[in-house]
Amino acid sequence: MATTDVVVQKALYFGIVPILLIFLMFMFIQKFGSSLKERLISAFWNRAMVKYHTAMRDIKKIHFHSMNYHKSADLYLRNRGLLRILEIGAGSGANFEFFPPNSKLTVVEPNAFFEPLFYKRQSKSDIKMEKFILTNAEDMKEVEDNSMDVVVSTLVLCSVRNVKQTLKEVHRVLAPGGKFYYWEHVHDVPGTWLHFLQNLLTYTIWDLCFGCHLNRNIDHLVAEDKTLFSHIDQKRFDIPLKKSLVWKLVRVHVMGVATK
Ligand SMILES: C[S@@+](CC[C@H](N)C(=O)[O-])C[C@H]1O[C@@H](n2cnc3c(N)ncnc32)[C@H](O)[C@@H]1O
Repeated sequence: MATTDVVVQKALYFGIVPILLIFLMFMFIQKFGSSLKERLISAFWNRAMVKYHTAMRDIKKIHFHSMNYHKSADLYLRNRGLLRILEIGAGSGANFEFFPPNSKLTVVEPNAFFEPLFYKRQSKSDIKMEKFILTNAEDMKEVEDNSMDVVVSTLVLCSVRNVKQTLKEVHRVLAPGGKFYYWEHVHDVPGTWLHFLQNLLTYTIWDLCFGCHLNRNIDHLVAEDKTLFSHIDQKRFDIPLKKSLVWKLVRVHVMGVATK
């Protein structure tokens, strides 16, 4: 083979072909990457949540129990025993059983792949649906100011892009005296192995793969902006799921109720 042919062949094998492949892969990820990731996350969580929520059911019942005694700020609804609930990041609908039977539920969820999974569960519950809004909790334009009696978030503030902005939005849509029920995994205290590992994984693969941050101090963030909530009742606890590494990584949780 002539020297020029060898040079051209090498350029093709080691230069043009890999560059072309990387370019095609990049284009594919640009076009389908985020929807592929969303599809995988919804399928993964729909399965994982069964084990998680079965283990959490009794503790969640205690957490949400006080919602049964909360009265709507709207006189008409209060007289009819109705409660307006907004659930942010509802996923495939893990919380119906904890809501008072007369609730009118609005959902804000950015991942469209969750919608059919959510409606499948909702059809088996007594909860009345108001709206399913496909958007981020950081920007809930379609939800009016002071229009909700309760906002619920379970395992969502780890995933939102901006926790402070989300909390501002939660505060905006809550009616005066309205309650924010949250249930989230949090960063373990500094100096522990878990604290270190949660940082290491979040900054490398975790956010990329699951769109989730293991190292957020959600309890501190809720309490930080003193203009938001007049009263906060929250506590950290260890979840009763310890066998696999994934559950160990999210062992420390916070549950809380913040009042506007
Ligand atoms: C781990 S799942 C939890 C789902 C459900 N709340 C539960 O407890 O099973 C996280 C959820 O947060 C949603 N999410 C992610 N980013 C969000 C955002 N910016 N605003 C609202 N929801 C978001 C995801 O689409 C997903 O439904």
